[in-house]
This record gives sequence, structure tokens and C-alpha cells, in this order.
Amino acid sequence: MKILVTGGAGFIGSAVIREIINNTDYSVINIDKLTYAGNLNSLTSVDKDDRYSFEQIDICENIEIRSALNFHKPDVIIHLAAESHVDRSIDGPREFIQTNIIGTFVLLQEARLYWDNLRGVKKNNFRFHHVSTDEVFGDLMNSDELFDEDSVYAPSSPYSASKASSDHLVRAWNRTFGLPTIITNCSNNYGPHQYPEKLIPVVILNAIAGKGIPIYGNGQQIRDWLYVEDHAKALIKVALEAEIGETYNIGGHNEYSNIEIVETICSILDKEVPDGPSQINHYKELITFVEDRPGHDLRYAIDASKIKNDLGWSPAETFESGIHKTIRWYIENQDWLDKLQLRNQSIKKIYQGKET
Ligand code: NAD
Ligand code: DAU
Repeated sequence: MKILVTGGAGFIGSAVIREIINNTDYSVINIDKLTYAGNLNSLTSVDKDDRYSFEQIDICENIEIRSALNFHKPDVIIHLAAESHVDRSIDGPREFIQTNIIGTFVLLQEARLYWDNLRGVKKNNFRFHHVSTDEVFGDLMNSDELFDEDSVYAPSSPYSASKASSDHLVRAWNRTFGLPTIITNCSNNYGPHQYPEKLIPVVILNAIAGKGIPIYGNGQQIRDWLYVEDHAKALIKVALEAEIGETYNIGGHNEYSNIEIVETICSILDKEVPDGPSQINHYKELITFVEDRPGHDLRYAIDASKIKNDLGWSPAETFESGIHKTIRWYIENQDWLDKLQLRNQSIKKIYQGKET
């Protein structure tokens, strides 16, 4: 079995590849453009394995994608490559339209061409699994509501609108062309190797460095947190076992407000790194309320009963165990961060200046 993963140098993609190499017999082909968020150092524990190969390709480049598909002949595609950060999508939406919409379109067209030319069992078993987000559903106002697979699409940000567009394309390629697709929509992931622009790594790393911990607006927004390795296991299960044409919501049943997340991390650090920055007695003194994110979604929460009932998946990690592991990983892996920062000094900062 050969699984082609797009975006395998990213946070979730690298967890999927580590899971495949460490816990299955399958081979994996990693296709990644290596943007600022793509980091091959997240794969050093598995990249010497004969079952792993890497191609630096932009998913928008159809000829390169075509060659890779014809050369590697995958049985399954798990498509994760995307621009993934909401704040960047507000400052510069163009790359999100390009990669998330055009890139997914190119991949669908090339997958279709490749699949059309397959024969027999290889053709019958082929699957295209598109990895998406709960943000396509917009936000929840009422504490009783949860997103399920029938929730209406109502994206709020350029990021979530671009992911919603890509979901619609995938559905259309399934219905119109018969491409065997599956879609998953997941809640907020956290864990090792996450780029330090997302809430949890920002909080951990700023706190350790004695820098202000930025909380947008009043910090009352709620997210449903899932440990990344649980998501990786769910993705592989769905890619291999789900019915074609299905969609699955994936979540951690861990709803916390941003302020609760930040205070939890601060109190763990008080115990784990007591000899922290000299100017403070407790890490929470670093909390700084800053300007709110425009269009900030209030609450996301997932009803993950369909994937549990159909495929027997549920998360192994509690938030308590996962956040301890995550904090420990960032403390012990400063070199991962140093190498990342060094590498990104040479990628001219995408995050400067506003783009139309
Ligand atoms: P990430 O930003 O950490 O990684 C994205 C990866 O895609 C990087 O390795 C990057 O180099 C690569 N990439 C970007 N543009 C590319 C292009 N044009 N061609 C090829 N590769 C390209 O993202 P992540 O957090 O790992 O998210 C992965 C996927 O999961 C995304 O599709 C995202 O929408 C989805 N998702 C993320 C979360 C989350 O909490 N992080 C939750 C639900 C769904
Ligand atoms: O729900 C799934 C989505 O989760 C994924 O599709 C996205 O790719 C992923 O980035 C994530 O989106 P969020 O916008 O929810 O994640 P982020 O870590 O950027 O922010 C989490 C919450 O914390 C959000 O309410 C904004 C707030 N925040 C974020 C940062 C970076 C802060 O208050 N301060 C911060 O510095």
C-alpha cells in the first residue's frame, strides 16, 4: 500500500507520516512545497526509512503533480497541503485562494486523470481523502449546539472560505466525475511540531522567553482541542476504511475558552519551569489582552459520534495528558525551533505588509 500525503512537512501531515512509518507497513510519498510552515526536521525520526520518499512540489503545478502520480502510483492520497493560519489569511488572502482552492482543483484534476487510467483492483481501491476544518461551518452561539456532518457551511475568514471552497470542489468531483473521495472536518489540533504562530505554541514559547502572551479580545472564544496524534490516527483510518463519498467530523470533546487554555499552560509552567524569567513570579503575569481578530469566530465544537460509531475511532489522549506532553516537547526541542527560525530567515517574511 502506497499513501501519498500532501503537506507532509507540516504540523499534521508530519504526524500522519510518522504514524504510517512507525505503526504500519505502508509506504508514504510526501509532496510538499516547503513554505514557511513546512519543516523537514519534523520528519528526521522516519526519513531514513526505505518506505519514505519526499518530492518538493507545489500542488498548483499540474505537470509536476502528474509526474509524481505516474511515477509513485499511490493507492491513496491524503490531501493536507494548505495555507492554514487564519491571521495570515486576513493579512494576505491571495496565497490561501491559490493553494487551498486552485491547488485542490489541480490535485483533483490530476487525481482524476491518474485514476481514469488505473485498471482492476488498483482502480477499485483508489481513494482521495481531503482534510478540512470545522471552520467551514462558521461559529456556534449556543452552548448546546455542536457541528455535525449536516451543519450548514458558513465560513467567516478568508482561510475558512478557501477551505469551504475546496470541500465543495471535492464533493463536485465525486458526484460529477465519480472520483472516490472522502472529506474530514476537524477541530483545533495541538501537539509537538506546530508552527509557533498558533495559540498553544505561541503561549508556551512566549512564556518561556518572558515575552507577553497575547490574548485576542476578551479571551472568551471557545475551541475544541484534539491532540495531533489522535487526528493522525483518525485520518489514516478514514482514508483506508471509510465509505466513498462520506464526510466525517473529528474532534476532541475538549472545549475550553482561550483564557482557560492560557491559564492552564501558565500554571503547568509554574511547576515544570519554576526558575523562569526573572521579572515575574508567575507566568500568568505575562498575559496581555490585545486587539481582537477581525471576524473572530466565537465557538467551535464537534459532534464526533459518526466516526466513533462507523469506524470505532475516539481520541486516546485527554487534554490534560496531551498538553503536558506538548509543553514538555517544546521545552526539550529548542533546536527544532532554532533550525526553523534560521531556515525561515531565508524565506522572505510572507507575514510582512498587507496584500490586496
Ligand atoms: P501547516 O500550516 O502546519 O502545514 C501545511 C503544509 O502544507 C506545510 O508543510 C506547507 O509547506 C505545505 N504547503 C502549503 N502550500 C503548499 C503548496 N502550494 N503545495 C504543496 N505544499 C504546500 O498546516 P496544518 O496545521 O498541518 O494543517 C494541515 C491541514 O489540516 C490543512 O489542510 C488544514 O486546513 C487542516 N486542518 C488543520 C487543523 C489545525 O488545527 N491545525 C485543524 C483542522 C484541519
Ligand atoms: O478549528 C480548526 C482550525 O484551528 C484549523 O482549521 C486552523 O488551521 C488552525 O489554525 C486553527 O484555527 P484557529 O484560528 O482556531 O487557531 P489559532 O491557534 O490561530 O487560534 C486559536 C484561538 O486563540 C482563536 O480564538 C484565536 C486565539 N488567539 C490566537 C493566537 C495565535 C489568541 O488569543 N492569541 C494568539 O496569539
